[in-house]
Parts: sequence; C-alpha cells; structure tokens
Amino acid sequence: MTDQKIYRASTTAPVNIAVIKYWGKRDAKLNLPTNSSLSVTLAQNDLRTHTTASCSAKYPAEDVLVLNGAPQDVTGARTQACFRELRALRKDLESKDSSLPPLSSYPLKIVSENNFPTAAGLASSAAGFAALVRAIANLYELPSNPTDLSRIARQGSGSACRSLFGGYAAWEMGTKDDGSDSVAYEVAPASHWPEMRACILVVSAEKKGVSSTTGMQTTVATSTLFAERARDTVPKRMKEMTEAIQKKDFEAFARLTMKDSNSFHATCLDTEPPIFYLNDVSRAAITAVNAINQAAGKIIAAYTFDAGPNAVVYYLQKDEKEVAGAFKALLESKDGWAGERGAAVEVNSTGAANFDEKSAGALQNGISRVILTGVGEGPIKIDEHLIDENGEPVHK
Ligand code: ADP
Ligand code: DP6
Repeated sequence: MTDQKIYRASTTAPVNIAVIKYWGKRDAKLNLPTNSSLSVTLAQNDLRTHTTASCSAKYPAEDVLVLNGAPQDVTGARTQACFRELRALRKDLESKDSSLPPLSSYPLKIVSENNFPTAAGLASSAAGFAALVRAIANLYELPSNPTDLSRIARQGSGSACRSLFGGYAAWEMGTKDDGSDSVAYEVAPASHWPEMRACILVVSAEKKGVSSTTGMQTTVATSTLFAERARDTVPKRMKEMTEAIQKKDFEAFARLTMKDSNSFHATCLDTEPPIFYLNDVSRAAITAVNAINQAAGKIIAAYTFDAGPNAVVYYLQKDEKEVAGAFKALLESKDGWAGERGAAVEVNSTGAANFDEKSAGALQNGISRVILTGVGEGPIKIDEHLIDENGEPVHK
C-alpha cells in the first residue's frame, strides 16, 4: 500500500535590511554577488513570513506554492533551484537509511503568508525564500545548519541567505565559480546589541518600478562608479561595519550605513538609463534624519533605502524619543503607532519642530504607514500549520 500520510513542517522567517548593500551579480544563475553585504535581521513580531511545507504521495504530481492565498508559478529557475537542492539532500539521507520514507520523490505543497506588503520594497523575497528553504529542510529533517541552508536560499533571492540568521548577519561573496563559498554567517547575535531599533517609513506600498534583479544587472553592465564600489569601497566598509557592530559603536555603524546607502543609490543614478529608487519623500526623510542628528549634536539616527523609496531609520532604544518621537509628532495620524512598540513612543514635538517645512510637508503627504521594529531572531520552527492534516490549506 502506498504511503497515505501528509508530512508537514512550519517555520517563520524574518526580514533583513542591509546596512552594507548587495548590488550586482557575477553569476545571475547562481545569484553570486560582486560584493559581500551585511544586514540587521528585524523582529518577527513586527514583520514575518509564515510558511508550511508539506509533501505526500497522495498529492497531484505538480509542486504547488500558495502565497497569501494566491497560487504562484513555481517553474521559475530560482524556486526550482531551491526545490532541487533540498530534494537532493533528502535523497542522500534516504539512500543511507532505507527505513526513511522517500519524501524526496513526493510532490510538495507549500503555503505561505507574509504579514506585510509583498514586492513593495520591504524585503518579502528575503523572508519568503528563507522561510521556504527552512520549512522544507525541517520537513525533510535535514541536518543542515543555517550556513548550509543559506547557500540554497541565496539561489532563491540573494538577500534571503542573510534571513537564515538573527541579529547581525553577513553574506560572504565568495570566489568559487560553483558558489560553494558564497554563504551567510552570523556577525553577532541579537542579544549582543539588542537595543537596535528601526522605524520604517513606508512611502509607498505599491509594487516597485525596476526590480532589484533587473536593476543590478543593468548597473553592473553600465556603471563605472559601480566597479569602484565593488572593488574598493565595500571590502573596506565590511571590515569597518563588522568592527562597529562588535564594539557596539552606533556612530560608526550609522555613518557607514548612510554612506553605503548613498553609494548604492549613486551607482543606480550612474546606471544607463539611470534608476531612481528614491523620490522626494525619501529625500525628505534624509533631511529629517540629518535634522535629528544636528539637534542631538551627534549621530543618533541612520537612514538606509533598498530598491525603493521606503526609508528605514536605525537608532538605539535610548534615543527613541529623539528619533521615533519626532516622527510620531509629525506622522501620528498615520497607521502604525497603535501597536505595542508605537504606543510606547513618546511624542516629541520639539524634535519635529527642527524639520524644515518642505520636508515635513513631503513626509506628511507621502508616508502611508510607519512600522516600528528592532533587531530580532532568525527563523523559528512552529507547530501552527497553514496546511491541515488532510493536506488542505487552512483558511484563517
Ligand atoms: P520585495 O521588495 O518585497 O523583496 P521582490 O519583487 O524583490 O520584492 O520580491 C517579491 C517576490 O518574492 C514575490 O513575487 C515572490 O516571488 C517572492 N516571495 C515573496 N514572499 C514570498 C513567500 N512568503 N514565499 C515565497 N516566495 C515569496
Ligand atoms: C537593495 O536579494 O532582492 O535590497 O538576488 O536578484 O533576488 P535578487 O535580489 P535581492 O536584492 C536586494 C538588494 C537590496 C540590498 C540588500 O538587501 O543587500
């Protein structure tokens, strides 16, 4: 009789926002980057992907992935690469132990939910692929550690490899053609510097104009500034940023974060045709952060932008009133302050008074929502499944 069982495993995975940016591939198929990168993993209470992976001999032959209730195309090279590599690792275990059920040969059914906007520049692909790989690894009971899995998640989306770790994570670019040394590792756990906070100013929850994948390919092909960034600028900054994190030196961390965001967006502008991820609202956020730092007489806030207009502002808990409090005074009518973290932020009208009128107006008109979060843990295995014991998606 065939095996009728529905096998299931679930995980949650976090978003990460880079402070030294990944931008450029030396191998687009394997997602091998032209520079190393480093990020802060954000707390899953605020932003997370929840994924259940299941497999069964009873399932129809095709693998299935349902994201936020909508079936996704799984035939793309990136998803296929993840499935293939994970199945190969499982097959290896099965070949060594004949008592194991042959899960590697069963169709996969995966259901996933993001509790934040997908494809809106909030790193859903990072959390999404990290969760997908971790959930299937759990389903297959693979002995792999996060660095092994990062090699696979990288092929789904480059930045996903860093979301297999909590705290402060780096992705070593590696030099080998097969990508075996292009993996993520932990720079420091969240507990090393737990005071790190992030206030995300969501400028637009719309889908972005130029995808990161396409954008970075064009930059590599056309920007001269980019070559210098990959060769000299980033390797030096990776060392400095690692040291800043190890020493918990916020000023150094913040200065490097802002410089690297600016350098990445400069290469975008140097691309032919130029890519504009920042808009007037993003620039107003930069001006506001500068005003906060100027009023403090030192650097207590750092902005960074990915491939979109949303601002992520890093600061330390002790400076919450000066940083998040000033934004709260200006943006209190927007969504996002009602949660536990938002409610705890003390409104700082004096701080907001330092914002110039034009920037304050642009932020008030252009920000749709704020998300308050902080450094957090890596993927967490959970027992709450999005697929029931009959193999059907659970409707919440
Ligand atoms: P973002 O800025 O949110 O990372 P991208 O356009 O780079 O946006 O990536 C979005 C894509 O990532 C989605 O179209 C989907 O293919 C993938 N993705 C997002 N969330 C998940 C998820 N939970 N599980 C699997 N894949 C996901
Ligand atoms: C600006 O990881 O989304 O957020 O590997 O093509 O999927 P692909 O790109 P992706 O690019 C992220 C770019 C970035 C910087 C970063 O996260 O390091």
